[in-house]
Amino acid sequence: DLAKQQQAMALSEVMSPAADWYKQQLKKNTRAIDYLKGRGLSGEIAKRFNLGYAPESWQGLEAVFGSYSQDSIANVLVEAGLIIQSEAKRYDRFRDRIMFPIRNPKGQVIAFGGRILDAGEPKYLNSPETPLFSKGNTLYGLFEARQAIRDKGYVIVCEGYMDVVALAQLGFANGVATLGTACTANHVRALMRQTDRIIFSFDGDAAGQRAAKRALEACLPMMADDKEIKFLFLPTEHDPDSFVRERGAPAFDEAIRQAMPLSSFLIQVANEGHDWNTPEGRAQTQHAAKPLLLSMPAIALRAQLIRELAQRIGITPAELESFCGFKPVVEQ
Ligand code: GTP
Ligand code: MN
Ligand code: MN
Ligand code: MN
Ligand code: MN
Repeated sequence: DLAKQQQAMALSEVMSPAADWYKQQLKKNTRAIDYLKGRGLSGEIAKRFNLGYAPESWQGLEAVFGSYSQDSIANVLVEAGLIIQSEAKRYDRFRDRIMFPIRNPKGQVIAFGGRILDAGEPKYLNSPETPLFSKGNTLYGLFEARQAIRDKGYVIVCEGYMDVVALAQLGFANGVATLGTACTANHVRALMRQTDRIIFSFDGDAAGQRAAKRALEACLPMMADDKEIKFLFLPTEHDPDSFVRERGAPAFDEAIRQAMPLSSFLIQVANEGHDWNTPEGRAQTQHAAKPLLLSMPAIALRAQLIRELAQRIGITPAELESFCGFKPVVEQ
């Protein structure tokens, strides 16, 4: 509605000057510059992503917007999540952090992620949800990656800001990240508007494995036979950032080539913890496969999966279909 649109407009008007200011502050802070250099990032990449630095100051943004004691200014900044109001005190949310502006598909800054430079908690601080920004709808780096996604013909989806920026540094400018949240249906929809080919490349740790399963579940209802979804599993100790910097771009290219197709991953997920070699294990696999198959539209890939799974489980495709509750095969 109109009121909400107007509010969003007021918020978007403070985000861009704030981003510009953080960017200027980065130029003045050698500690922050050294941090980024230490992570292998060039000035050119920092510029492409408009990286910035929020100084260690409680009222830093007053330099841009004027005194926080003026309610008219402070209210918008609080709404935008740039300053925090606690009783009578108003102070900057982001202090002494590397700033990652998050942009919408139009290129407007809608939120920030801020990384601490040293060890400390929280490692990343994000803008709160606002009328401009909702995590489950936003992919970091999508605006910056759009041309590269078109050129390369696929998108790489990672977990973190640093993964996106490091991949871009090493020639993979087609990376985006979910913002520490699970990959949602809205994320997948946004990705599918850009490309038919998605490679998920989450961290190699247990959290990354869980993220891959969630991404699989988010993709299944939106699958079509012209989509190619793959999963790139990194060694446990790596994320895309550490992998590409340690092993180099050709190694990551090779990992992309060997990424696991969605079909194989679905079968792996269904069979996880179960034994193909026992009737119980095969039955449990069948049980676990049912909701996954049921969430798919009636596409040719589903029929292929049914055939493949049925064979491995040791039943007929018709038996698997009836177990899942599908009506007799009606192909699309
Ligand atoms: P680096 O340590 O800088 O390489 O970050 P990372 O991206 O590898 O971090 P990690 O794998 O731990 O987390 C992945 C993503 O989850 C981050 O990029 C953030 O978006 C998010 N995240 C991580 N830690 C926090 C946190 O403490 N708070 C919040 N809100 N988000 C976090
Ligand atoms: Mn992680
Ligand atoms: Mn990392
Ligand atoms: Mn990580
Ligand atoms: Mn199970």
